[in-house]
Amino acid sequence: MALALKYRPKRFEDLIGQDAISQTLRLALKTNNLSHAYLFSGLRGSGKTSTARILSKCLICDEGPTPTPCEQCDNCKAANEGRHIDIIEMDAASNRKIDDIRELIEQTKYKPSSARYKIFIIDEVHMLTKEAFNALLKTLEEPPEYVKFILATTDPLKLPPTILSRTQHFRFKKISQQDIVHHLEFILNKESVPFELQALQILARSGGGSLRDTLTLLDQAIVFSKGYVDVQSVTKMLGLVDPQRIEELFHLILAKDKEGLLQIAQELQEYEASMILDEMIAYLKEQLFLKNPKFSTLLYERFFKILSDAKSLLFFSGDDAFVLTLTLLKLLEATKVKEIEELIAQFEEQISTPPMQPPAPKPISKPPQSLAPRPKSAQDSFATLIDKLYKRSYELGECFEKSVQFVEFSDGVLRWISTPPPECKEKLKHSYATIRHLVQEIFGINTKIQKVDPPKKCETAASMVEEAEFGSCIQQEAGLHAPQPQSDILNEPLVQKAKELFKAKRVVVKPKV
Ligand SMILES: Nc1ncnc2c1ncn2[C@@H]1O[C@H](COP(=O)(O)OP(=O)(O)OP(=O)(O)O)[C@@H](O)[C@H]1O
Ligand SMILES: [Mg+2]
Ligand SMILES: [Zn+2]
Repeated sequence: MALALKYRPKRFEDLIGQDAISQTLRLALKTNNLSHAYLFSGLRGSGKTSTARILSKCLICDEGPTPTPCEQCDNCKAANEGRHIDIIEMDAASNRKIDDIRELIEQTKYKPSSARYKIFIIDEVHMLTKEAFNALLKTLEEPPEYVKFILATTDPLKLPPTILSRTQHFRFKKISQQDIVHHLEFILNKESVPFELQALQILARSGGGSLRDTLTLLDQAIVFSKGYVDVQSVTKMLGLVDPQRIEELFHLILAKDKEGLLQIAQELQEYEASMILDEMIAYLKEQLFLKNPKFSTLLYERFFKILSDAKSLLFFSGDDAFVLTLTLLKLLEATKVKEIEELIAQFEEQISTPPMQPPAPKPISKPPQSLAPRPKSAQDSFATLIDKLYKRSYELGECFEKSVQFVEFSDGVLRWISTPPPECKEKLKHSYATIRHLVQEIFGINTKIQKVDPPKKCETAASMVEEAEFGSCIQQEAGLHAPQPQSDILNEPLVQKAKELFKAKRVVVKPKV
C-alpha cells in the first residue's frame, strides 16, 4: 500500500503543518459554531481532502459534533472506512456539468439516512462549469439545516466571487521542510527502514511542500535504494547533483578560482542547468539559516538575483551549458561586492569621526601613537607583501613602497598610511584588487585593510571638504591635528567609478561654528 494512503491522517492531531486550520475547526466543533459551507484551498497534497474527511467524521460521530470523535460508533467506523452513506464525495473534475450539480442538489432534498448531517465534499471544485456554479449558488447559500458542504480546490482564484462569499475559506499552507522531514522520519522508523537524514531533506525539497508528493517520492526511494534511503541513491534517483559538488562550486566562487569553476562547469554538462540552479539556491538558503559567516547579506542578495536571472535566461535560451558557465562567472564577479561593502564601512567610519578631535601632534613619518605597538612578525609580512608586489610588477612594487607605510596589524585589520605621489595614484588605484588579494594571502583570508590618515592641515572647514575630495591636504609638520579628511575613500577606484556612473556632485558641508 502506498505510504501516502497508509498514513492518511484520521484525526486533527495527525495533521501536519496546518495548525491554525485544525485549531479553528476544533474550536468551531467544540462550541458548535458551525458554518454550512467550507472551502479548503491550497497546494496539492497538503491535507485538504484528509481534513474534509476528518471534519465530516467529527460532525456525524454519535457523540458529536465534537473535535474528538469516539472512533467506535458505527458512524465513525463507516467514515473511517470511507463508506458512510451520508458523506458524499464528488470529484468536480469528472462531474463538472450542470446536470451533475442538479443531481447533487436533488440529493440534498432527502434527509440523512443514519447520521445527523448529510455532507457533500466537492473536490477540485474550480473545474465546475459556469452554469454548474450558478446552479449550485442558491443551495450553497441556504441549504437544508442537515446539509453541510465542504469544497476543496488547488486553485481558488478560478472560483467565482459568488461562491467565495458564500463559504468559510481555509487556506492550506505549503508544509514546511522541517515538518515534512520529521514526518518522513516518523514513517520510516515505523516501517523500520534505515535512512540518512540528509536524504530525507533532499526528498522533502523535491516534494515542494506537498506531503503527498514527498511520500510518493519516498515510496520510490525505498525501492530504488533497496531499503536504505541514503543521499547517494536519492540524488541518483532524482537526477540531482551530489550536494558536495554544489558546496565545491561555492567554494571555488568565493576563492575566485575561475579555472576551477570552468572545469567544474564542463563536468556538470550532463545535468540539467535549471536543476543545478535550484540546488544552488537551496544551498544558499540553507547557509543563510546556518548563519555561515562566509556569506554577507549583500552577497546572498546578489547571488539570489543572479541565480534567478539565470533561470529566466534558461527559459529563453535553451543552451544549458552556456547559461550555467556564464552564471558561475557572474557569481564570481559578484563576490567583489565585499570590497564595496568594506569601502562603505570605512567611509561610514570616517564620516562618523567627531569633527574636532583633541590635538595629537606627531611627525608624519611615524604611525599614530595611540595604536598598539606593532608586532614584529607583521612588519616582516609587510616586507613580504612589498616583495611580492615587486614580483608582480616592478612598477607596482615601487609605487607601493613609495606610497604606503605600515602602521600595524591587529585583530585581522591591517592599517597603513597611504600618501601616493601623483605619478603613483592611478597605478595603485587600478591595482587595488591585486594588492588586496596579496594582503589576504599573506595576512589571512579575512584580513581587512584600513587606511590611517596622516595628520593633515586644512585651513577652513570648506577647504577641508574640497581638499578631501582631491586628496591633497597640505601635510602638517606638527601642531593641530585637523579633522579626519575623507580623501582616501574618495580616491578609491570603486568610489571613483561610482562617481562617474552616477555623475555625483560634490556637496560642501560647513559646520555652523
Ligand atoms: N497536512 C498533512 N498532514 C499529514 N499528512 C498529509 C498532509 N497533507 C497531505 N498528507 C498526506 O498526503 C496524502 C494526500 O493528502 P490529501 O488528499 O489530504 O491532500 P489534498 O490537499 O486533498 O491534495 P489534492 O489537492 O491533490 O487533492 C494523505 O493521505 C497524507 O498521507
Ligand atoms: Mg484532495
Ligand atoms: Zn463516533
